[in-house]
Amino acid sequence: MTHQNELPGATPFDTPSAIPSDTLSAALAATDRDRILFDLDGIEDRYADLRRELPQVAVRFAVKACPVDEVLAALAGRGAGFDAASPQEIAQALRTGVPVGSVHYGNTVKSDRSIAEAHRLGVRDFATDSVADVAAIARHAPGARVFCRLATSGTGALWGLSRKYGCSVRDAPVVLAAARAAGLTPAGLSVHVGSQQMTAGAWREAFDSLAGVLTALDLRGIHPDHVNLGGGLPALGYLDRHGQPLDPPLDKILAVIREGTARLQEAAARPLDFVMEPGRHLVADHGAVRAHVARLTTRQQPGGERENWLYLSCGKFNGLYEMDALQYRLVFPTHRPDAPRVPAVIAGPTCDGDDAYGRGHGLVQVPEALASGDPVWALSAGAYATSYLTLGFNGFPPLGYDCVRRSGDR
Ligand SMILES: Cc1ncc(COP(=O)(O)O)c(C=O)c1O
Repeated sequence: MTHQNELPGATPFDTPSAIPSDTLSAALAATDRDRILFDLDGIEDRYADLRRELPQVAVRFAVKACPVDEVLAALAGRGAGFDAASPQEIAQALRTGVPVGSVHYGNTVKSDRSIAEAHRLGVRDFATDSVADVAAIARHAPGARVFCRLATSGTGALWGLSRKYGCSVRDAPVVLAAARAAGLTPAGLSVHVGSQQMTAGAWREAFDSLAGVLTALDLRGIHPDHVNLGGGLPALGYLDRHGQPLDPPLDKILAVIREGTARLQEAAARPLDFVMEPGRHLVADHGAVRAHVARLTTRQQPGGERENWLYLSCGKFNGLYEMDALQYRLVFPTHRPDAPRVPAVIAGPTCDGDDAYGRGHGLVQVPEALASGDPVWALSAGAYATSYLTLGFNGFPPLGYDCVRRSGDR
């Protein structure tokens, strides 16, 4: 017995933020092929909410989180700028028609060639975190404006970005002084508190670091004109590895950001512009993956225990990359919510051991009667889904995508 349009009960929708929009639900129900679906109205609404909550902070969407032309165009249409991490992302952002002044090169890791290409494309704002990178920017993007990224611990985030980027509070004035000496404009500071940051305290710490560096810069006669608060704002509909809703304290986080920006503004020697570059917060909850069941199996493991494994058509290499730190909210639309269930490990279809929930994951209750081909929806899957598609690992083609709107127009 099938219930094609019936959404299951309490299991996947334990918090209001987890409920997919009617638009997304209808599009998922209407799709009979594996796809990633994006609800453009939902993304625009989330952007509008953020602007309303933090009117003093300009939003530059982190392209890496969803490099989909229609999504970028929708956000550009609402007034967003873009954080780009490569010349290719810069070019994609510029194709939306936004002025080049609202696109910055936010990656501290860049080759000479990439810097020169970004400069040729008209970008003038570059992230940096080292004297070596400053020297390269001075050579290949003369006269550019640089902002120095401060390292954060990443504590409290699902994906702490920790040691790869950013410099210490002590080094930042040295880096910006080197920029000034090299003929660049030492224009700002940035932080990133770690992706899906779950604590307001991490933001508080970031503001403490920013305030300390602004004071140290003042002593050197360096007066930045902006502060970039990075990404890290959470998606609202995620489950943790054990299947529990993450329920991030968004209101508290926003309050800390409001207080922090006011405090920096008061302490700064000149007016500061504030910028943010959220990725997953804007897109995660408004994207979903439509996959299907490859097979539900029961096997005895060498230790003697029997395990159920649900193999899906999509996994870590094809739309569900973030299974390292999450359980996706899975919906089985052709099975009743009260149908008998069995606990299973969730895995993707490839011949790769990483393409599965790991040992730290809880088991997932799945309908016992699942058959190969049954549709499966993975909700809150819109962030980094298209960015992390492999080109055809094991021959599985990269998932296609569709963008939908309330009117039903694609
Ligand atoms: C420099 C920079 N900005 C913004 C982001 C977006 O982060 P998030 O998706 O956590 O908002 C990232 C993510 O890696 C980043 O590296």
